[in-house]
Amino acid sequence: MTEGTSNESEEKKQKPRKLQTPLGVFDILPDQQLYYTFIKKVVRHRCRQSGFRRITTPIFEFTEVFQRSIGDETDIVSKEMYTFMDKGERSLTLRPEGTAGVVRAYIENGMKELPQPVELYYIEPFFRYDRPQKGRYRQFWQFGFEVIGESDPALDAQIVLLSNKILEDLGIAGLFKIQVNTIGCQLCRTKYVADLQNYYVGKERSLCESCLVRLKKNPLRLLDCKEEDCAILAQLAPKLSMYLCKECKEYDEKFLSYLDELDISYEKNEKLVRGLDYYTRTVFEFWDRYQGAQNAIGGGGRYDGLMEIMGSQPTPAVGAAFGIERIIYHMKREKLQVPSKDDIHVFVAQLGDEAKKKCLKLLWDLRERGIRSVGALGKGSMKAQLKLADKFNVPYTLILGITEVRDGTVIIRDMAKGQQRFVQHDDIVEEVAKLIGEKNLDTYTPGELMYD
Ligand code: HAM
Repeated sequence: MTEGTSNESEEKKQKPRKLQTPLGVFDILPDQQLYYTFIKKVVRHRCRQSGFRRITTPIFEFTEVFQRSIGDETDIVSKEMYTFMDKGERSLTLRPEGTAGVVRAYIENGMKELPQPVELYYIEPFFRYDRPQKGRYRQFWQFGFEVIGESDPALDAQIVLLSNKILEDLGIAGLFKIQVNTIGCQLCRTKYVADLQNYYVGKERSLCESCLVRLKKNPLRLLDCKEEDCAILAQLAPKLSMYLCKECKEYDEKFLSYLDELDISYEKNEKLVRGLDYYTRTVFEFWDRYQGAQNAIGGGGRYDGLMEIMGSQPTPAVGAAFGIERIIYHMKREKLQVPSKDDIHVFVAQLGDEAKKKCLKLLWDLRERGIRSVGALGKGSMKAQLKLADKFNVPYTLILGITEVRDGTVIIRDMAKGQQRFVQHDDIVEEVAKLIGEKNLDTYTPGELMYD
């Protein structure tokens, strides 16, 4: 290294770095929050209706929780985990998905003692060191559901229906095609995987680099490779459906018959295997009708073997998760408006010390009545405050000056009409409530507390 380069890198090190978000993560600004709030509300409502209860697992867990469950050879574990050593030299990982943590929590908290199945849902941020691009972020939000403790194709169908209901509520269900498949159980898969590997003997040269690794470590994933040559070979590969045991076959037939009964349209897709290792039997994904597999907005399936892998007794389970940013992308593309409760009803302007005191109290009296109110409590001139009121786009501004304080009045200004009048200070809250309309008020009752 020349002296010059060394100086340059020294300088780079010393230069304060511009403070900004790392690649692939982003701020959720107030206008975006409206979408998140709306989606969370819909998910909470549908889950509550169906008897699901909310769970939050830690943002980081011991690395093993994810390694064991998702599978060492998956992209998520081999390339995408944010793993670090803590001060006690323990390997920890930011959760890349929700299922592993929920299963760990089920075991750790003895949930098998609860009435089965245990039905849980979550709405949380997750982390994957993915290559950032549209729809792929390093921190992203998912909502998901897990039904643990029972095996029945009706439960699998229920998860697909619940997912579809949520997408309907969000106004985007029609944009997706549901892809379904069964990947059998350990029993039927063992023979299939051996035959699949045999099929590829002599064809290795046509496979992409990733598929060469998959061939040894995770052969099922060969079926859904997007590379052209790999896809052509996969087309002619043995079909897992020919290897299904009687139980898996019957299970799948029942699952599909329930979907038919529920009038849910789906596409059978024998190449769908999902990117996580823990699945058995039912798998499904919601694909954009136009973009196909790329950037599925959600997916899931049955994972009857996971509990055992995690060190507990065998316990069947099924679940799904959806990417909130991808959902928002589709809602925006469809120009769907989300309700906003951020609009301010009233701006309170004041001038003079006495007026400011009155204004402080008035602001809270208005808010207690459900009137969304802001006030300029700084030192701005009346002109500057009225300009601010304009920026807030409020329908009404209240003005309190020295004269109004002395006379016990308040000026109320209708911003659209540009007209103003005096109202008695004691009557102003009710007057504004009347103008805003009872049904538009932002009242909130925390609900009655219950004591034993
Ligand atoms: P997944 O298919 O890995 O499944 O993720 C579910 C959804 O999360 C994806 O369809 C996508 O919408 C979103 N997602 C994933 N990675 C990213 C990313 N880097 N940026 C933005 N969105 C992303 C699971 O996570 C399983 N735990 C689902 C499950 C629950 N299976 C059974 N129970």
